[in-house]
Amino acid sequence: MAGRCRVCGAPAYARLEYANLQLCRDDFVRFFERRVERTVERYGMFERGSRVAVAVSGGKDSVALLHSLWKLRGKLGVELVAITIDLGIAGHSDRYVPLARRVCERLGVPCRVVDLRGEYGFSVDELRGLRRPVCSLCGAVKRYVLNREARELGAHVLATGHNLDDFLAALLQAYIRGDLRALAKLRPYLPPEGKLVARAKPLVETPERDTKLYVEALGLEHVTWKCPYSSGASSFEYKRVLDLLELEHPSVKFQMLRSFLERIQPLISVRSRASSHALSVASPARALFASFAE
Ligand code: AMP
Ligand code: FES
Repeated sequence: MAGRCRVCGAPAYARLEYANLQLCRDDFVRFFERRVERTVERYGMFERGSRVAVAVSGGKDSVALLHSLWKLRGKLGVELVAITIDLGIAGHSDRYVPLARRVCERLGVPCRVVDLRGEYGFSVDELRGLRRPVCSLCGAVKRYVLNREARELGAHVLATGHNLDDFLAALLQAYIRGDLRALAKLRPYLPPEGKLVARAKPLVETPERDTKLYVEALGLEHVTWKCPYSSGASSFEYKRVLDLLELEHPSVKFQMLRSFLERIQPLISVRSRASSHALSVASPARALFASFAE
């Protein structure tokens, strides 16, 4: 890259159009970690002394998350544990599970590997042929298992690698479907509720491209292939549209995030609290299912 780092003048490694900024490798790594720290603080994600369970799939996002939180753990005053679910996907799980284990081992973070087949009696491969797409069933299974395992590990918060693009893709999808319940729950931090452990997305202000630049800058091992069930996932389409918008209007992704969280989401949450109360009074069974599938 031809440019120079804005901070130190060394050759640039990353060009961040949304901030009109070029940074060398070291300054980009510092910038990335500082932003994770600010996000954690801004949304009050972790209290000092808390145990944070990091959901590690071995993908670039969760590897970047684990690594940056590991570097920040002293400053934030948190203890880290990792959870990896072996989903039982042929040709996929047998590659990402050992990789996730290695990533955790290198950092000295204890990793709980959950074998879905052995411990829950089914694998994601066996979910084929049901009425819903495998990916969406798998998503509900992951949410349920991660929450349960985090609770059993005594974690105060479950942190996932969802980045800015993931968040906005979910926002677009929920908006198009008019899914107010999903919009109400779409938040960087969800406090604990009943049996649900608090959930945090410390990369919510980090564009997906930056997590790639971060793992590459540090040479961190990560999954470079796709899950066999991911082809045709609508989130890819939404992300493509968002990238096109960003190309024409740099920083529009951040604008969308801010507008939603500051202006729209608070109004939806108030309405949704009222209707979810009505639902739980009317039908405890449906409310129970909703808490499993959320
Ligand atoms: P995805 O739902 O695949 O987009 O992944 C979103 C986040 O969920 C990842 O960044 C991880 O934090 C977590 N996650 C996904 N798959 C797994 C897995 N097999 N084991 C543990 N955490 C996972
Ligand atoms: Fe769940 Fe691909 S990771 S279907």
